[in-house]
Amino acid sequence: MNTQFPIAAFKNIETPFYYYDMDLLNETLATARREASKYEGFHIHYAVKANFNPMILEAVREQGLGADCVSGGEVNAALRAGISADKIVFAGVGKTDKEIALALDAGIFCFNIESIPEVEAIERLASERNVVTNVAIRVNPNVGAHTHANITTGLAENKFGVNYEQLDEVIDVIESCNHLKLIGLHFHIGSQILVMDDFIALCSRINELQSLLRENRSIVLPHINVGGGLGIRYDAPDEYDIPDFALYFQTYAKHLCLQKGQQLHFELGRSLVGQCGSLITRVTYVKRGSRKQFAIVDAGMNDLVRPAMYGAYHKIENLTSCKECELYDVVGPVCESSDVFCKDIELPATDRGDFFAIRSAGAYGEAMAFGYNCRALPKAYYSDTI
Ligand code: LLP
Repeated sequence: MNTQFPIAAFKNIETPFYYYDMDLLNETLATARREASKYEGFHIHYAVKANFNPMILEAVREQGLGADCVSGGEVNAALRAGISADKIVFAGVGKTDKEIALALDAGIFCFNIESIPEVEAIERLASERNVVTNVAIRVNPNVGAHTHANITTGLAENKFGVNYEQLDEVIDVIESCNHLKLIGLHFHIGSQILVMDDFIALCSRINELQSLLRENRSIVLPHINVGGGLGIRYDAPDEYDIPDFALYFQTYAKHLCLQKGQQLHFELGRSLVGQCGSLITRVTYVKRGSRKQFAIVDAGMNDLVRPAMYGAYHKIENLTSCKECELYDVVGPVCESSDVFCKDIELPATDRGDFFAIRSAGAYGEAMAFGYNCRALPKAYYSDTI
């Protein structure tokens, strides 16, 4: 039985809910910051999309990290949390005029631009305001990451970024704009990446590209942004609670040839917040089918969509039983056959009312919750205030 959870307190709370271990969160953020600060010019922008819960954003701000945002709503959330505008980067293929305007008015550090029509829109809105804004080109490096097909982003077939053959034209257009300053290149190859080889492949692409730009166009840009993507161990959340940030930053320090004074930016999401969160749910019924036994819990795919959407594995623990193990499918109450958290797992024999923790749910858990079946959005509780 896992004793790190305050079961007595849980018994007074309506389930399902997200529970955040704030000590682990703070230690994870501090470790990432410390490891990055070993290298000059390394900056972390927390990827707000992973979890925009205000308590999480506050912890991010306290550690002095910046923010990586992909919508006007996220820019506002970061600003509200007190993250300073000059540490905010704004990416996304479909920024609307309204979102661009709000980011310009806030004075964010940089737009990661993804197409020529977007460059034109930002130029027009910046010119109306008579301001000059920083932009970086999101380059599609055509590097495949060894991860789920739905979360790779760096392949030529993905909608993201500017492909190599269009790069010259995009640079020309930006250079012809009076209100845009090209300051960098931005990359992101995908998410939940555990093998450093993928990041090394990205480094060699960036090195090639930097040499080409220097030789062909005498361009050296002051900022390189390598995106995020560092994965977490869903199979062993307690043994690997803090990801190996030392190895991650060292990999970039070793393989990326930065030019003198060049600043390196990271947009980490999952690795910073994934392991500190669990979805806590109660068993509503145990149902014995003809071939299977189902533990029907009160959390559904609307509370945590990753298993249904990506076939993702999250470790499940029974927090209130230490009986002998039996085989269960853990399923939710939503009217979809894909509302399954895990099939055929061994769990201590389970009764109605048992508490389960669905682990490693701090990233893309609460942030992706939705209201299907008129279900309420899950609430959140924190280890330091529960
Ligand atoms: N930067 C960019 C441009 C991104 O697209 C992403 C994630 C990140 C940074 C942060 O990546 P991370 O460090 O968290 O891997 N909902 C999916 C993950 C989608 C990731 C989208 N982009 C999931 O639940 O696995």
